[in-house]
Amino acid sequence: MHEQTVREMMSREARKTNGASVGIPARLMDFPLPEGRPRFPFFGGNALASSLFAVFSAIFPPGERFFVESVRRFRDTITDETLKAQISGFIGQEAIHGREHEHLNTWLAAQGYDIALADRHIRFSLGLLERLPPSQQLACTAFMEHFTAHLAEQWLTHAEFRTSTDAEVLKLWSWHAIEELEHKSVAFDVHARVSPAAYRERVLAGPLVLGALLPGIAFSWGAILVKQGEALSLREHRRGLKALLGKNGFVTRVLAHVPDWFARDFHPDQQQTDAVEREWRERLFGAQGELNAHFRNREAVLKAAA
Ligand SMILES: [Fe+2]
Ligand SMILES: [Fe+2]
Repeated sequence: MHEQTVREMMSREARKTNGASVGIPARLMDFPLPEGRPRFPFFGGNALASSLFAVFSAIFPPGERFFVESVRRFRDTITDETLKAQISGFIGQEAIHGREHEHLNTWLAAQGYDIALADRHIRFSLGLLERLPPSQQLACTAFMEHFTAHLAEQWLTHAEFRTSTDAEVLKLWSWHAIEELEHKSVAFDVHARVSPAAYRERVLAGPLVLGALLPGIAFSWGAILVKQGEALSLREHRRGLKALLGKNGFVTRVLAHVPDWFARDFHPDQQQTDAVEREWRERLFGAQGELNAHFRNREAVLKAAA
């Protein structure tokens, strides 16, 4: 997303009741390219895990545009002032996530990750979802937000992930994670209000998203490894697979929560993250916040939240 587009979106959002007043502030971050960092920044230099996280990073810019559009389409039908403010916060946060991941993707591409190939596959997959009726697209967004919120919780709490990932690269993921937790209910709540067949669309969203996206993700992941010359690093792959899909693996912990989505009384707030959010908001953006040097609108956010 172009810088100017982000700025226009930000100022439009700032004019409305902004998300900061409802706990969803659009923090305007500006992370530098991670110069001089290891080519495989995740899980102690593991190529398999780093390639999967590179695919995730490739997904975010087009994915978050899809999320924003699917919610924005219904914004004018929402009359609840709090939910309207949450939508503003959601749109602002996702727009900036997309921009910062584009920036990171430039660096990843320079490290030999074929981000362009992953981007093509993801756009094709999202194009399939864009053929669905608008409220079904919104249900798909809510499902992807559920998945992302559990990824986000792991980004902040998975001990091995945090201790074995390059500290500079980790900054962007920590900021993204906390904001995913802050806005995790918004798409779901909008969908619940606007869809006359909310549960049916919700149940359909799971297989639709997985069917549309998983093949492209798997292919891109494999292709990136091959292009990195790492396809046959079997011992490293065993280590990566254990870190991702082992008993307490990063992805295992996320997948464990996919079935929650299909419960009739499911709500994203059932994922209890208040304590994690409080802890990390203070660590990242408090008086001595680790990320304050990159937080361009900190004063405005504090003022709006007061
Ligand atoms: Fe995001
Ligand atoms: Fe999100």
